[in-house]
Amino acid sequence: MIHAILRMGDPRLLVPSRAVERFGTPELAALLADMRDTMRAHDGAGLAAPQIGVPLRVVIFGMEANPRYPDAPPVPYTELVNPVLTPLADDEEDGWEGCLSVPGFRGVVPRFTRLRYEGFDPAGRRIAREVDDFHARVVQHECDHLDGILYPMRIRDMRKFGFAEVLFPELAGADE
Ligand code: NI
Repeated sequence: MIHAILRMGDPRLLVPSRAVERFGTPELAALLADMRDTMRAHDGAGLAAPQIGVPLRVVIFGMEANPRYPDAPPVPYTELVNPVLTPLADDEEDGWEGCLSVPGFRGVVPRFTRLRYEGFDPAGRRIAREVDDFHARVVQHECDHLDGILYPMRIRDMRKFGFAEVLFPELAGADE
């Protein structure tokens, strides 16, 4: 089922989510199916459960060719429960981000360039990966949602925050 996505200003986006305690349940499978349907319906690169009003530590992400991010390399579709992120270097890199909860905008956000993420799939099998660049950026963005953080809160130079269609007129039509 495709859900409405909460937008910035909704206090539910600012609340830290709680850990999933039981894996392999029909409820968790249904949540993931709804998240997947909702992300795809909006051409998103990722989605966190609190964005559809479910305060659990569950994120999904993945991208083959996405009109919203035409230059980004592919990221395998991943369902990640109770994630833990560990930066593998102090290096940060600025990059443009958007968010389905902040429709119509883009901003430049600093993120760690390389990190390890661990967690579980919905069946409770362990996931552990070391990733960099865009894959690392997407994971950091989605996991921030689990702590009530939206990307505009991380923008250091507010001159690099604006309407997508003004910043990137060549992408007009690649709507949120
Ligand atoms: Ni987001």
